[in-house]
Amino acid sequence: IPVNPFDLVLFGATGDLAQRKILPGLYHRFEVGQMPEEARIIGTARSDMDSDGFRDQIRASMNEFAPAFKKDLLDQFLSRVEYVPVDALGKAGWAELAKILRPDVVRAFYLSVGPNLFSGIAQRLNDHDLATPDSRIVVEKPFGHDLASAKALNEGLRACFEEHQIYRIDHYLGKETVQNLMALRFANSLFEPLWNSTHVDHVQITVAETVGVGGRGAYYDQSGAMRDMIQNHLVQLLCLTAMEPPSKFSPNAVRDEKVKVIEALEPVAQADIARGQYRTDKSGDGYLDHVENPASRTESFIALKAHIGNWRWAGVPFYLRTGKRLRARESEIAVFFRDPPHTIFPNVGPLHGNVLVIRLQPDEGITLRTTIKEPGQGGFRLSDVALDMSFADALGDESQSPDAYERLVMDVIRGDQTLFMRGDEAEAAWAWVDPIVKGWEERGDRPARYDQGSSGPEEALMLMHRDGRRWRQIGG
Ligand code: BG6
Repeated sequence: IPVNPFDLVLFGATGDLAQRKILPGLYHRFEVGQMPEEARIIGTARSDMDSDGFRDQIRASMNEFAPAFKKDLLDQFLSRVEYVPVDALGKAGWAELAKILRPDVVRAFYLSVGPNLFSGIAQRLNDHDLATPDSRIVVEKPFGHDLASAKALNEGLRACFEEHQIYRIDHYLGKETVQNLMALRFANSLFEPLWNSTHVDHVQITVAETVGVGGRGAYYDQSGAMRDMIQNHLVQLLCLTAMEPPSKFSPNAVRDEKVKVIEALEPVAQADIARGQYRTDKSGDGYLDHVENPASRTESFIALKAHIGNWRWAGVPFYLRTGKRLRARESEIAVFFRDPPHTIFPNVGPLHGNVLVIRLQPDEGITLRTTIKEPGQGGFRLSDVALDMSFADALGDESQSPDAYERLVMDVIRGDQTLFMRGDEAEAAWAWVDPIVKGWEERGDRPARYDQGSSGPEEALMLMHRDGRRWRQIGG
């Protein structure tokens, strides 16, 4: 279904994210016919170039990042693209921008720039009367570095925009399977009755990456896995897993429930945290080679045990784990159900509880580990098998899910905030994260070293073993 006509102003249009994700994503929406005739994309950045120069840059990026485009369609798409050089915190370009914006279409300002520019740009949009009451402003992560900076960002944005106009992106919420988590829970009657501490033993949420910090060392070293991944993506996954059913699928109903989960997160003891940093490998490449500080104590891996202090989840640990340069790229949520209370099958080995695994990437799908009788004539032996559903197998072509950004940008135009973080949500997540980070910073803890291509440091395994549990294998 095409969206309404729009002017999308993309700040930071020559930057990596814009070229790699946002612009190719917009092209794909155009390709599938979701972009109306009157849609326009206006790139802005400091670089002094004209619209043709910008279009050439997009062509080059498409060749590199999304080469499966159709040439004639890309040309048509690019005819909707313009460029205006704008000095985000200066004077140049704003009047030109004001001149070309149309009064009667949806207006969205997408800030694909560092958070240090958010408030300044919002202010200038206001000063130049570019922000109408219906305009939307979109901001990328990181949304702050801690609670104080997140509050300052919220204040800066709210000085010029109402909360219903502010779209804080967490691209994990745009991932198809993440949304499927809500369908699985709230469009089926099978799981929800079991979704509580009476039946769930624990939950494991893993986002394992094979990439390293690469060229992002300067940013990453100030951030680390806790701020870069846990505060946003993994907390969001935890919220969708743990939240109460919202009364309806509407932005505030969903976000109210998520905030309640975050606010119920208990402080995490330092003993329940394992941090790691990947070692230099044989080729001489390691975490410390990508950052300025040779004695950096920033973690590229973290595992921790979280507890949600509410009626539904009291006593159920949520183990979160994420890291770079691990064995495989694999993200999943695994819900471990309790063992059966009693066995009528003696001498068949330990019984395992059921495990429901929601695979986010790659090979999106759902697996339910169940116990069955091993086939055979004599005796009675049990074994674990997986009821396995891959979305690609089940849905064929339809499973071709759009990239997270495509979905989210179109939601902005539609005016649907359901998959965006509300201001209080971002602040609540920082309020949980801050004391945890402060704890290890004050103690001067060093992260343990781990081999590249491994599952992370030994300490992370110990975190589980201590509780008599085991992580699911990464790349298993
Ligand atoms: C980003 C983080 O938000 O998410 C990166 O800043 C990380 O460090 C990335 O690599 C992971 O996203 P995805 O979609 O590849 O799982």
